[in-house]
Amino acid sequence: MTYKSLELVKPEQYTLEGLEIGVTSNCNFKCDYCCAYNRDDGQALDSREIIRILEGMPDLKRVRLSGGEVTLKFQDCEEVVAYCASRGIATQLNSNASLLSASRIDRLAKAGLTTLHVSYNYRDASEWSRYYRLPESVHRKILENLRLAAQSSFDTVVETLLFEGTQNRLPEIHESAYELGIRTHEIQNAIRMNHTGWSSIAARDQLKQAVEELVRAKKEDMILYFTCMDRFVDELGLPQPEGVHYSHCIDGKTQLHLHGNGDVLICELCHPVIIGNIYKGTDLNTIYRDRPSALDDYLTKLPCPAFDALFPQGER
Ligand SMILES: C[S@@+](CC[C@H](N)C(=O)[O-])C[C@H]1O[C@@H](n2cnc3c(N)ncnc32)[C@H](O)[C@@H]1O
Ligand code: SF4
Ligand code: SF4
Repeated sequence: MTYKSLELVKPEQYTLEGLEIGVTSNCNFKCDYCCAYNRDDGQALDSREIIRILEGMPDLKRVRLSGGEVTLKFQDCEEVVAYCASRGIATQLNSNASLLSASRIDRLAKAGLTTLHVSYNYRDASEWSRYYRLPESVHRKILENLRLAAQSSFDTVVETLLFEGTQNRLPEIHESAYELGIRTHEIQNAIRMNHTGWSSIAARDQLKQAVEELVRAKKEDMILYFTCMDRFVDELGLPQPEGVHYSHCIDGKTQLHLHGNGDVLICELCHPVIIGNIYKGTDLNTIYRDRPSALDDYLTKLPCPAFDALFPQGER
């Protein structure tokens, strides 16, 4: 399964193909922009429980392990990845990469990981350190891990959040990721976090300019994925040459999020509405047939905060 293959097809029929699992909500970073649902609430799912849940889901195509920082539960991740690989289910591990090492990268490869997905917003160690309020040595460790991972048998993807802090620097971030050996770069349009008040998202003109500049600077053998822009790619006339994809949003449609306490959410990022709980009778196999009211409401309206932020009601 290639990266984002679920997102490259516009979901017409709603059925669960991808499950994002909040292995832990705890994190060793405290990023201002962070969307993690109930970050640091201590909720976690161990590998035995995750595997038990997955055993009851015969049709799943992809499992994304996210958090929090999932590598705080490294062995659980490794065991889930190995289980999924044995069933031909693609896996993605979302990480800040600070807690990886050569031996952990090797173990993930041996377990059969499909994709390692790493946040990568600053090439410069001192800027990184100032923004994240962490020592520069952590940044060096992340770069070292990215370099090692890029040589591994799984795909390594870096994701840059497009927000005020990165909107003028995408080409240099792209170039430095390329130098680390990375060949897939995702640009995640930042979403306002209503629950924390974080709102440094890129405005419409800045976003368009940032995308255009990056596409012009794109390395020929690098693939670019832009996320949370599919609803306005045509309105803004964003460039779509070969090797540049604007992934379709599948959240709530063919992918759901499972939190550590069993809550099932439409999307941890932009719509953390609880539509059920697997410990209170929700069956993930029949959730699209049963359509709990919060899910039905979402699928009827298909709201998109990324679109609403750039195209307020009055301006459409
Ligand atoms: C919550 S993090 C968990 C994985 C890991 N700790 C990391 O930082 O990569 C998952 C993804 O959410 C993205 N994210 C966090 N806050 C966001 C926001 N406000 N808007 C869009 N994406 C966001 C991050 O860029 C990251 O790639
Ligand atoms: S974005 Fe990732 S690394 Fe940053 S606080 Fe959230 S979970 Fe932690
Ligand atoms: S609905 Fe949410 S996840 Fe989907 S594109 Fe819009 S902001 Fe992104």
